[in-house]
Amino acid sequence: MLTLRSVPDPLAAWDTAFWPFPMLGAPPLLLAAASLGITLLAFLLALRHWGWGLLLICWFEFILKPVQNLIMGDTKEQRILSYVQQHAKPGDPESVLEAIDTYCSQKEWAMNIGQKKGEIMDAVIREHGPSLVLELGAYCGYSAVRIARLLPPGGRLLTMEINPDFSAITQQMLNFAGVQDKVTILLGASYDLIPQLKKKYDVDTLDMVFLDHWKDRYLPDTHLLEECGLLRKGTILLADNVIVPGTPDFLAYVRGSSNYECTHYSAYLEYMKVVDGLEKAVFKGEGSPVQS
Ligand SMILES: C[S@@+](CC[C@H](N)C(=O)[O-])C[C@H]1O[C@@H](n2cnc3c(N)ncnc32)[C@H](O)[C@@H]1O
Repeated sequence: MLTLRSVPDPLAAWDTAFWPFPMLGAPPLLLAAASLGITLLAFLLALRHWGWGLLLICWFEFILKPVQNLIMGDTKEQRILSYVQQHAKPGDPESVLEAIDTYCSQKEWAMNIGQKKGEIMDAVIREHGPSLVLELGAYCGYSAVRIARLLPPGGRLLTMEINPDFSAITQQMLNFAGVQDKVTILLGASYDLIPQLKKKYDVDTLDMVFLDHWKDRYLPDTHLLEECGLLRKGTILLADNVIVPGTPDFLAYVRGSSNYECTHYSAYLEYMKVVDGLEKAVFKGEGSPVQS
């Protein structure tokens, strides 16, 4: 006698294995496709809004760096310093810059101003010849070495760094490059330190300010510099990363203000083929709320 046996439906088995809520009705494949679509859409929107540059920075800084630090048992900044100590010549700032650029373009990306934008900064310094420079954001000391090597005799660089580990690396980098006598590292937040510059650090007005800390601080710290009377006619503000990650509020302010004369220098983001730029804003000294 022929008996009819039901053949198990493999898709139904898959359904119950992966989607134990048949009462909700949505097949898992549809849900997976929808989630994938939403993720892709979010990625495309982020890409449209911030561009590749910021996504790559996030990848390097928040994913790759912690993983490598964990595997290697040290930090990226320590690895940069070690590479310099092994490959550069003590007391030779050029060889220090070259070693950092080699390491960061070949081994691990890092947020130094880098060679191409660094050369633009060199040209601005050579053109204006500042003696007293303030840097906001030292990181490993790359730009501090770059600036210090171009200062005239008696010139001084004050660099503010909020992170004590980075500040310690910067001090060692400056010592190795032999420019430590020209540079003072101020450990702390720019917004706490700027108001102390006149009384505690004997500053009258600044010849140049290099803005390269967190991008949302460019505008409030520019206002703080103005309010504290640290800018004079001709003070140069040079701001890095005005395109990537971008500083739209700072750019709108300096470009829209009759107190500043602005020049944009288009360039590439350090160690990447992503368009970025530097903005030079020369303070004209008119209408400034200068304190005595
Ligand atoms: C882009 S990195 C500086 C790179 C460095 N200028 C160079 O080109 O070699 C930014 C640095 O600013 C520091 N920073 C961020 N916000 C700060 C603040 N409000 N005050 C002082 N340092 C700050 C960060 O810890 C980081 O080391």
